[in-house]
Amino acid sequence: MANKHYDINYLQNSRRLLLNLKEHSYTFFQKINSGTIIDLGCGAGNDVIELAKITGKDVKVIGIDHDPVMLQQAKEQSKEVSNVDFILSEAYPLPFGDETISGLRTERVIQHLTNPEQVIGEVSRILKKDCPLVIIETDWSSLSFYTKFVDVQKKVNAYYTDVKINNGFAAAKLVSYLQQNNFRNIQFEIHPFVTDNLKTANELFKIEQMITEAAEKGHIREEDGRAFTDALQKADDGHYFACSVNLVIASCIK
Ligand SMILES: C[S@@+](CC[C@H](N)C(=O)[O-])C[C@H]1O[C@@H](n2cnc3c(N)ncnc32)[C@H](O)[C@@H]1O
Repeated sequence: MANKHYDINYLQNSRRLLLNLKEHSYTFFQKINSGTIIDLGCGAGNDVIELAKITGKDVKVIGIDHDPVMLQQAKEQSKEVSNVDFILSEAYPLPFGDETISGLRTERVIQHLTNPEQVIGEVSRILKKDCPLVIIETDWSSLSFYTKFVDVQKKVNAYYTDVKINNGFAAAKLVSYLQQNNFRNIQFEIHPFVTDNLKTANELFKIEQMITEAAEKGHIREEDGRAFTDALQKADDGHYFACSVNLVIASCIK
């Protein structure tokens, strides 16, 4: 994303809302009992800690992130956990030798990359043969609010996918990234996320802020932005607010 829209607070809120999906993603790694697992773009490190819990003390779980503030928080929260480590690094290149890693998870990171193909190639380079790769992404193009302002909604979605997010169609492209690198046993799951209140939609998607930004930058007309926002507010007040988005998981082995 050109200007990051997430901070530690955002990650903690979204973690609470996406807990089931996250827990499901850990199960792909539960049979690994030695070696190193990486959480790429680990943010505040919660998933690193949870992966370390399920894999046991003979597995080292390493969180990688290029943001020192995130890693500082990750280190703070994992003080008591022995088998975790954190490395400040870009997603490309990764500071590991060829075929040295036993599993890799990456959640809501590929969407932010300007070089996703290069990063997936790098992941393929460091993963050992037969080891799992699990990618979670948001399908921003599926974001829906079920109001009559369908044309405004389309333009707001385009603001997410084409302007705000570097790789806004990452979810749709995941399988092709994996195929390009000859990953095997590719599986694709869709996990719809649904909320019935505007507060949660703002926490997870910052929808009101995005409408305002899209209007300020001329992607939608000011009056259309206001009408869409009013419709969302009215739906929330009337207890018929509805919002959904698909999160996807692409899993495979090298
Ligand atoms: C939306 S957050 C998701 C964090 C975490 N995976 C989670 O689910 O809570 C994206 C994370 O990826 C990191 N990130 C984005 N681009 C990166 C890059 N090129 N190299 C390393 N980390 C990156 C960000 O700093 C941020 O912590």
